[in-house]
Amino acid sequence: MNFENNISLKPFNTFGVDVIAEQFVSIHDEEMLEKIISKNGTQPLFIIGGGSNMLLTKDVNCLVVHINLKGISVVFEDNDFVQVKSAAGENWHDFVLWCLDRNYGGIENLALIPGSVGAAPIQNIGAYGVELKDVFVSCDAINKYSGEKKRFDRNNCDFGYRQSIFKGIEKGKWIITSVTFELSKTNHRLKTTYGAIQEHLDDMNIKEPSIRDIAQVVIGIRSTKLPDPKVLGNSGSFFKNPVVEKFKKDSLCIENADMPFFELTPETYKIPAAWLIEQSGFKGKRYGDCGVHNKQALVIVNYGNATGKEIFELASTIQNEVESKFGIRLEMEVNIL
Ligand code: EPU
Repeated sequence: MNFENNISLKPFNTFGVDVIAEQFVSIHDEEMLEKIISKNGTQPLFIIGGGSNMLLTKDVNCLVVHINLKGISVVFEDNDFVQVKSAAGENWHDFVLWCLDRNYGGIENLALIPGSVGAAPIQNIGAYGVELKDVFVSCDAINKYSGEKKRFDRNNCDFGYRQSIFKGIEKGKWIITSVTFELSKTNHRLKTTYGAIQEHLDDMNIKEPSIRDIAQVVIGIRSTKLPDPKVLGNSGSFFKNPVVEKFKKDSLCIENADMPFFELTPETYKIPAAWLIEQSGFKGKRYGDCGVHNKQALVIVNYGNATGKEIFELASTIQNEVESKFGIRLEMEVNIL
């Protein structure tokens, strides 16, 4: 095993924040992982996958384990459905492309989301009307300290909006090693109603879209709105879209007639955090080496050498400003470490 000391984690987090790991190892098979866990005992262990949903605010004074497990295989199929198991270290978008190549449907709306397959269940990734939980069968995980192996089925995962048991009561306990998905082989259930997807299909004069067409449209939309982390460090949406009670939505609408909202239940409404942030004057603003993206106000970007602390301070300022203007406290979606 190749342990390295005092290495920069800049290449391992999509924000591109430069913090130092006291010790680092990249693991390629589960046996290696088991050995590390049994040797490490109860000492802290820091797990990193695609590094796409974390903000590192300080050096990491323990062993960092980079999950680099690879492999995708079909574990079950009949005429209509297929179950595909992917190792945690596969890149999410590459996995989507692998499925598209075989005409396996269900995750085409989730194209181009940064990060690894193993991280996907943790925050129940979602975009354009589809969430991971819609296609999730189970994931295999190993306890970070005891080495216990456990399979989590869909029903045990407490999936919610950008939420799961791995961000809730089981937070920090498990290392996801693989995820199994159920995808369609025929009669794909296409989701084209969200946002601009249908509009784009109409513009392209596509009447009967394939899953590949949907993925192309999603890739197109994402590429215009969301910065490529390889070019401009970022972590996707930094905040969750807040959910408010009807009376709160109604009172905000009196003063802000153009405020967008989406009904979740007759009593609860989701307000786009991006709109609240834009109205608070942050969109496109730069503060030192970090700032708010000029095409999507929900995304905080690192122009080069911002520290995690600077990014966190900007996020806190945004929270405070939005709260004083609208009386809504935004919740950070990214894990702050
Ligand atoms: N809006 C603004 N200003 C902006 C951007 C958006 O006012 O700068 C308003 C517009 O009214 C727009 C609405 O916000 O109609 C919604 O915007 P958008 O469709 O871009 O989606 P979002 O709610 O901002 C969510 C997810 C994204 C996901 C998109 C598409 C969260 C926290 N974010 O963003 O997820 O790609 O929907 O489904 O739920 C991510 O999690 O990293 C992520 C990018």
